[in-house]
Amino acid sequence: MALNDFLKYQAQTNPHPIGLDVAKAEGIYIWDTAGKKYYDLVAGLAVNNVGHRHPKVVEAIQQQLNAYLHVMPYGEFVQGPQVQLAKKLAQALPQNLDSCYFVNSGAEAIEGALKLAKRFTGRTKIVSCHKSYHGSTHGALSVTGNVTKQDAFRPLLEGISFIHFNKVEDLDTITQETAAVIVETVQGDAGVRIPTPDYMKALRQKCDETGALLILDEIQSGFGRTGTLFAFEHFGITPDILCMAKAMAAGMPMGCFVSSQEIMHSLSHSPMLGHITTFGGHPVSCAAAVANLEVLQEDVLRDVEAKGALFAEKLQHSIVKEIRQIGLMLAIDLPSQEITQQVVTKCLERGIITFWFLSNPASFRLAPPLTITFQEVEQACKIIQEVFEEVS
Ligand SMILES: Cc1ncc(COP(=O)(O)O)c(C=O)c1O
Repeated sequence: MALNDFLKYQAQTNPHPIGLDVAKAEGIYIWDTAGKKYYDLVAGLAVNNVGHRHPKVVEAIQQQLNAYLHVMPYGEFVQGPQVQLAKKLAQALPQNLDSCYFVNSGAEAIEGALKLAKRFTGRTKIVSCHKSYHGSTHGALSVTGNVTKQDAFRPLLEGISFIHFNKVEDLDTITQETAAVIVETVQGDAGVRIPTPDYMKALRQKCDETGALLILDEIQSGFGRTGTLFAFEHFGITPDILCMAKAMAAGMPMGCFVSSQEIMHSLSHSPMLGHITTFGGHPVSCAAAVANLEVLQEDVLRDVEAKGALFAEKLQHSIVKEIRQIGLMLAIDLPSQEITQQVVTKCLERGIITFWFLSNPASFRLAPPLTITFQEVEQACKIIQEVFEEVS
């Protein structure tokens, strides 16, 4: 009944949606309306990093519900949860990232970041990477390295060039005409592609030499997913603009682009209100995000890499061609798209939620809540191994 109405009245963009009819979610588990329990190894696509409905997040949301909801578009009233979050983020980030602009989603963070880079540098050209994913709005799609997706919606933004991720030779495309280079610190949708520290350092250096701003998209890799609060910490570099969303508010919608006060100042004049949002920094999302950050700063990050490595170890099988893993961000390459679909479907039947990649169809992804225990990793891998046996 609910599934029929879902298919009939909700706009459908995927011919084969999973259609799981959700009743509740708690920690690393989701229950459907028939009472079946699932291990959620996707976390709403790298959103529920502290698990579903973390008690401290729920408490913070409830407190804010009792105080106020939306009161004014972004940047006019002093709203406690926004200020607290901006300060906490600035304190957790390198010194040059001390000014936060809150929005509602990842794509919106990308839009803001691109505008900011153009406005600050006075330049218009943007360099991005093949196989990147930065979102589905026009600006974000313009810098997304997926020609099939782009071709269907042209004309898009002009002046975008694409380089190969993790290829130092391509960095010469960045010139003194480049406003910004936008890069996922770890490419997510491309199938968890992890750059070398040398590449990231060369990228930073090229931006410094040319005056191009470096925008890092940590919408998927942020908030502990790779074992550090943000993935750029692995590579010894700092961006000029950092984009975040997804796991930022532990299941509430929220995004943000962060930069220095000097760069961010360019959105405040000629014209003033260089970027506007009604709901950006919604107080309930901000309250959730403050609690989320506090939970992450307790001890959640400590075992993330070890848990990811345990997945990589326990998922070895003759059917598996390659596993790429950083923290709890994993891509498991299988021989074909068909086998990947079979694995994802059979895992679901056995109560394990996994997911595929848009741009890397012969792989499936794992991005479980970071709060998963070692024992739960072993239990889940045992079931996935049974599925590997069945399909091989
Ligand atoms: C790296 C990256 N950037 C941007 C986005 C877009 O975020 P949103 O779906 O919140 O617009 C995503 C979403 O998957 C993403 O993974």
